[in-house]
Amino acid sequence: MTQSRKLRLGAIIHGVGSSMSTWRHPDILSDASINIEYYKQQALIAETGKFDLVFIADGLFINEKSIPHFLNRFEPITILSALAAVTSRIGLVGTLSTSYSEPFTVSRQFASLDHISGGRAGWNVVTSPLEGSALNFSKKDHPTHGQRYRIAEEYLEVAKGLWDSWEDDAFVRDKESGVFFDPAKLHKLNHKGENFAVQGPLNIARSRQGQPVVFQAGSSDSGRTLAAKTADAVFTGHETIEEAKSFYRDVKQRAALYGRSADELLIFPGIDPIVGRTREEAERKYKEITDLISPETALKYLGRFFDHHDFSVYELDAPFPELGDIGSNSFRSGTDKIKQKAKEQGLTLRQVALQTASPRSGFLGSAEEVADQVQRWFEEEAADGFIIHSSVPHALDDFVELVVPILQERGIYRTEYEADTLRGNLGLSKPVNRYTKARQEAEAAEQHAGRAEVEAAASAARQG
Ligand SMILES: Cc1cc2nc3c(=O)[nH]c(=O)nc-3n(C[C@H](O)[C@H](O)[C@H](O)COP(=O)(O)O)c2cc1C
Repeated sequence: MTQSRKLRLGAIIHGVGSSMSTWRHPDILSDASINIEYYKQQALIAETGKFDLVFIADGLFINEKSIPHFLNRFEPITILSALAAVTSRIGLVGTLSTSYSEPFTVSRQFASLDHISGGRAGWNVVTSPLEGSALNFSKKDHPTHGQRYRIAEEYLEVAKGLWDSWEDDAFVRDKESGVFFDPAKLHKLNHKGENFAVQGPLNIARSRQGQPVVFQAGSSDSGRTLAAKTADAVFTGHETIEEAKSFYRDVKQRAALYGRSADELLIFPGIDPIVGRTREEAERKYKEITDLISPETALKYLGRFFDHHDFSVYELDAPFPELGDIGSNSFRSGTDKIKQKAKEQGLTLRQVALQTASPRSGFLGSAEEVADQVQRWFEEEAADGFIIHSSVPHALDDFVELVVPILQERGIYRTEYEADTLRGNLGLSKPVNRYTKARQEAEAAEQHAGRAEVEAAASAARQG
């Protein structure tokens, strides 16, 4: 571990929460998922805690079994644009699916967000797990898991190409001469591939970060490879430190195969800290939430991971049913884990449903205890940072007020922002525009060739 390695933090703002029933808690604003004041307040709390970023998850298909937050929530780019106006340092990362959008539109949206926020935009690339999404996008079928990842890879190639349409200094804007831009610094992409044909150029200048930060969420083999090739950061989820360490090692090794160094790809497991002034207080907070969940709502929640499979047809207290391939074209990495755990621990359907609907956080306890866990995961290289979920009311406030000062005192977390861009704070360099780079390399080669010619002539003269 290098001396300068510092913990990174993100806060997922998730309205009324990630469970079926959190919205019923008396301290939860029941319209939080579409309450701009709530989003502003959360973003500002995270910024007070010097968080690297706020994070907005998203989905494209709902039905009556979806969790309350999914039924009625903001579109990510829209809410992040509003948050850009009320914050100044924190990064703004939004989820957008490569299976149901067009690269021209999306690269333009993120470039706009990067301009609007002065270099704080990030994109969480997802491939959309839910089959029903096809029904909302005039598609006959939901692409298969493998197809979605092939689309995602080509999509990112196009988006990154479009972000380089304009070199950094392409817009001259010289009123005197009437030159608005330098045509030599404007480039068409002319992409023609299996899934996309995009000419370009993009109709917005290169943004402050050059390219917005790319997160990838999807932890299967294909997801890991996509991250290793193309992403700046990975959003993932693990129940144990051993599992997280093995994922961390694996993804960093894959990145090395593509010639990338370990610190060019940051790993962010999502965690849901439940912090009390004492452990008992934290336990009480957790119980208040689990008490709100009935077995019926837990079954609905579990069903979502298996493409809304109807679990109510099985015996609740019998062993977890054999499901074959159900869900494998959906949340593959998630369903595999649920099935494996049920088998290994011999769990019943009731136990699996309740544990999935309200998992007991491994980051539950007093502030010192939670800080110990965070530090351990960070120092043992299970994580470069964390995305903090709020699974109980006031979880983010508690973390910022009680845990952050301990992490700062231990010297593993910043007391001030290092930079005013998301890349800068994450320690990621700004990618040099590919055309600028090619020109610089050509010029250097020419100079080198020129020098070699002069030296050869001088040597010939000496010998003659
Ligand atoms: C930690 C994590 C967060 C995710 N967040 C989202 C999300 O906000 N929206 C979405 O549509 N899919 C999300 N996904 C789903 C993935 O993009 C992907 O479609 C799904 O997990 C299947 O891919 P996998 O088998 O590689 O994990 C997430 C996946 C993971 C592991």
